[in-house]
Amino acid sequence: MSLADELRAIHEEATERLSAAADLDALEQLRVAVMGKKGSLTAAMKGMGKLSPEERPTIGKLANEVRSQIEEALAARKAELDKQALAERIAADTIDVTLPGRGLSAGTQHLINQIREEIEDIFVGLGYTVEDGPFVETAWYNFTALNAPEDHPSRSAKDTFYLKDNDPNPEQSFAPGESDVLLRTQTSGVQVHTMENQKPPIYMICPGTVFRPDTADANHLPQFTQIEGLVVDEGISFADLKGTLDHLTREIFGKDRATRYRPHFFPFTEPSAEVDVSCGVCHGQGCRFCKNTGWLEILGCGMVDPNVFEYVGIDPERYTGFAFGIGVERVAALRYDLPDLRMLMTGDMRFLHQF
Ligand code: DAH
Repeated sequence: MSLADELRAIHEEATERLSAAADLDALEQLRVAVMGKKGSLTAAMKGMGKLSPEERPTIGKLANEVRSQIEEALAARKAELDKQALAERIAADTIDVTLPGRGLSAGTQHLINQIREEIEDIFVGLGYTVEDGPFVETAWYNFTALNAPEDHPSRSAKDTFYLKDNDPNPEQSFAPGESDVLLRTQTSGVQVHTMENQKPPIYMICPGTVFRPDTADANHLPQFTQIEGLVVDEGISFADLKGTLDHLTREIFGKDRATRYRPHFFPFTEPSAEVDVSCGVCHGQGCRFCKNTGWLEILGCGMVDPNVFEYVGIDPERYTGFAFGIGVERVAALRYDLPDLRMLMTGDMRFLHQF
């Protein structure tokens, strides 16, 4: 075969194999097989030396053409395969940004703490201080200094969790009800601590956990949250109590809700009252939520009994005051129509995340 034919055959074969090269690797193999050191075109070019001087220019020209055509074709096929490889990679790596993400659960403040802080803010706005007190109390703070008589039923072990007394003699043990160390049943004892430690004028609230030996059901919890309030100053009257608590209920439940004050009894206040707010479901018409009364009880209150002032050494001739206690779980239940107080205790995120 003449060298010219050989060059044409190389060109033809290279062109054929080129279009068959399916990927970049196959293309590179082809390039080496044709143009590499031991490639077919390289070998053919070496035969140029044997040509006669007449043949050399035409064959030389042909060889250069073949080489540059093969180079061009290789480059074009490479560009094609590069493009194809890129398209394949893009398709494989595709992220569908329209897919909804997985929800991250960032905790929220518990509903009870939200309401507690809301009520704290209302009273801080009125110039009150926020006090704290111990969960473990003595009967003096929880009952006696609050004017509860010795035989008051709330002192019984049925209504109060008693703890073993911290008596220095460890041999001595107390039956429930004999010990005077207990889990506070109300935040009212903080009134006594505050009046022992501060001189009037006193404007304070005390939010906190309280404990009672009740079985948890839809309306009772053995552990719940109260907010106590106490005002002691000169010339404080029931009108101050009413103005303050009406402000509180309007802030919590809205301006369209009415209040009513029902006479009641608490050992530490005289006179005492329970405060009802008009039912938000039926607006006073009567419905199942308010047991057909049109009203919902929300707190207890009254004018501080002069006996309480005597216990803590405040002159009842000079000072008067009012006090109140509100249940935070009850506020939550009334505001959000909760059918069962236990929903607040079970930690079910599907419920708690709604607030
Ligand atoms: N301590 C009362 C209770 O647990 C609530 C209460 C009522 C507190 C009247 C008060 C008050 O300060 O004046 O039921």
